[in-house]
Amino acid sequence: MLLENRVAIVTGAGSGIGQAGALIMAKEGAHVVVADIDFINADETVNRIHAAGGSAESLVLDVTDDRALEAGISAVAARHGRIDILHNHAGAQVAGDLEQVALDGFDRSWSLNVRAHFMAARLVMPFMKKAGKGVILNTSSSSGVLYDREMIAYTTSKHAVIAMTRQMAGDYAKYGIRVNALCPGWVDTPFNDPFIAQMGGRDAIEAYIAEKVPLGRWADVSEIAEPILFLVSDRSSYMTGQILVVDGGETVV
Ligand SMILES: NC(=O)c1ccc[n+]([C@@H]2O[C@H](COP(=O)([O-])OP(=O)(O)OC[C@H]3O[C@@H](n4cnc5c(N)ncnc54)[C@H](O)[C@@H]3O)[C@@H](O)[C@H]2O)c1
Repeated sequence: MLLENRVAIVTGAGSGIGQAGALIMAKEGAHVVVADIDFINADETVNRIHAAGGSAESLVLDVTDDRALEAGISAVAARHGRIDILHNHAGAQVAGDLEQVALDGFDRSWSLNVRAHFMAARLVMPFMKKAGKGVILNTSSSSGVLYDREMIAYTTSKHAVIAMTRQMAGDYAKYGIRVNALCPGWVDTPFNDPFIAQMGGRDAIEAYIAEKVPLGRWADVSEIAEPILFLVSDRSSYMTGQILVVDGGETVV
């Protein structure tokens, strides 16, 4: 198994892409800490991992709460004596152009999509440095490399995740720590529900995706789980500071 004896923390692992990543890491032998603000979602992921014979625990917290994050990560390190993988995944989309976007929405987007990644990475770093190895994966988005219509808070935060990833990768490679970013395109999860409502329903979004994405469809979460596994395992051992875009070709047109 690719991740035997490794301890992985995945934020936003209670649903969607984060859940799919948590499931595949557990299948490959990792003990997965399912960090999520929603305890029902977190429990569901943990139960699914246990049902499949894997190892997991839930960590219910708001990743934007520095104290909760610090307490949670310290407790994981104390319990297991190691943190091998951090997948910073929890994030949110806040709509609006420069004039429309609510200021508190812009701040919320920054604190969840960027600052919480920064804090979690900072908190796991002493354990990874001590071990002389570790992997951090930050979820950005195709919106981290593209213009995204009237989504200034979201694109700003997701572009920043990429800059932060490169910076962390350069600074910490000397400690054997790799840091990469994942940029999914359209993935069919509850994350897109507000956008679907804004577009006027499921038919409208299906038509939009068929036109915008060269492969002509959404990704299933399983199609993002495989790239996650690649990036957090030794299969990508010579890769750091890179951006993996998994978007059905949306960014090539
Ligand atoms: N689904 C897509 O199409 C898509 C595309 C590109 C990027 N992404 C990125 O993926 C991430 C989430 O997407 P998903 O599709 O997995 O979403 P999702 O809605 O299926 O799951 C998000 C999970 O994050 C948790 N969460 C939200 N706020 C949190 C907080 N403050 N603290 C802890 N947990 C919190 C939620 O409870 C939920 O379980 C975001 O970073 C998003 O930008 C998604």
